[in-house]
Amino acid sequence: MIKTQGLTKVFKIGKKEETELVAVNDLTLEVERGEVFGFLGPNGAGKTTTVRMLTGLIRPSAGIAQIAGFELGKNDTEIRQNVGILTESPGMYDRLTAEKNLTIFANLYDVPDNEKSVNKYLSMLGLWERRNDTVGSFSKGMRQKLAVARALIHEPQILFLDEPTTGLDPEASKTVRDFVEELKTEGRTIFMTTHNLDEAEKLCDRVGIFQQRLLTLDSPSNLREKMYGRRVVFHLRELQPGWVDLVSNMPGTGNVEAADNKLVISLKDPEQSNPEIVKALVLAGAEVQFVGEIRHSLEQIYLEMVNNSERGQR
Ligand SMILES: Nc1ncnc2c1ncn2[C@@H]1O[C@H](COP(=O)(O)OP(=O)(O)OP(=O)(O)O)[C@@H](O)[C@H]1O
Ligand SMILES: [Mg+2]
Repeated sequence: MIKTQGLTKVFKIGKKEETELVAVNDLTLEVERGEVFGFLGPNGAGKTTTVRMLTGLIRPSAGIAQIAGFELGKNDTEIRQNVGILTESPGMYDRLTAEKNLTIFANLYDVPDNEKSVNKYLSMLGLWERRNDTVGSFSKGMRQKLAVARALIHEPQILFLDEPTTGLDPEASKTVRDFVEELKTEGRTIFMTTHNLDEAEKLCDRVGIFQQRLLTLDSPSNLREKMYGRRVVFHLRELQPGWVDLVSNMPGTGNVEAADNKLVISLKDPEQSNPEIVKALVLAGAEVQFVGEIRHSLEQIYLEMVNNSERGQR
C-alpha cells in the first residue's frame, strides 16, 4: 500500500538558504494493506515531514514512493483521493458548524451521497448532538474528532494520522484509538506517528523507530525479543545457591541471575522450558510460588535506540 525507496528531504534554511538540513534521510519502507504502522521518533525526527511527503504535500528531495499503487510526484491527484490525512494542528472554519465543515470537505472530494457520509461520521465520532454548533466553540478533543471525521469523509484506503491523540484526555484518546481499531477491521491501512509508546504497542502491527533515518522496524513483540530475548522470573520460597547451576546446565537456558528469592532466566522458548525448569526445581526441593515473563516495554527499546543513534551522531 505504501512503498518508499530512498525517500529523502533536505530543507534549505538560514536567511540565504545557505544551510542544508536533512530532515529525512534515505527512508526505505513498505506498509501492507490493512496494516497499522506506527512511526515513532523524538521531536524533530522528521515524522511530519515524512507524512507530508507521502501525502503529496511537499516534494521529496530524492527517492521514490508508491502510495496505493500510484507514483508519488506523477499521480498526486489520485494519491490525494486515496489518502486521508490528520495533520498536527488541523485547521477548520471556526465560524461554521461542524456539519458545514464536513460538508465543505465532502464536496471538495466529490463524495457521492455527501449528506449521508457527513451524518455517518458525525455520529461515529460522537459529534451528532453538537453538529449545529460552530467549531470555534469546540474543545480540543472535539476538534480532533472532527478532524478525524474530515480525514475519512472520502473513504480513503490509507489514513495518515500525525499524532492523533496528543493533547487529548484519556477518554478522547480512547475514542480515537477505538476508532483506529475499527478502521483496521475495515481493512484500511493506517500510518500513524506518535509519541505515545503505549498506544503504539496496543494499536500497531509494526513500528518503525525513526530519527532522520529508520533505526529499526518490526512488530513490538519481535523488537522486544530481538533486543532482550525472553526472560522468565521464578519466585521461590527460598533460594539455594546450587539451584543456579542446576538450571544453568539445562538445555535451552541462557543467562541465569539470582536475586532475593528469585531466579531470572533468559530462555529461547519459555513455553517449552518453563515446565521442565519447574519440575527440576521441585525435585531439588524448591517451592515455586510464581512464574512470570518479564516484558520490556516499547519505551525501553525506543529510548535505547534513540540514545544510541544520538551517541553515534556525536
Ligand atoms: N518547512 C520547513 N523548512 C525548514 N525546516 C523544516 C521544515 N519543516 C520541518 N523542518 C525541519 O525538519 C526537521 C523535522 O521536522 P518534523 O516536523 O518532520 O519533525 P517531527 O518528527 O514531526 O517532530 P515532532 O515530534 O516535534 O512533531 C526539524 O529539524 C524541522 O525543523
Ligand atoms: Mg511532527
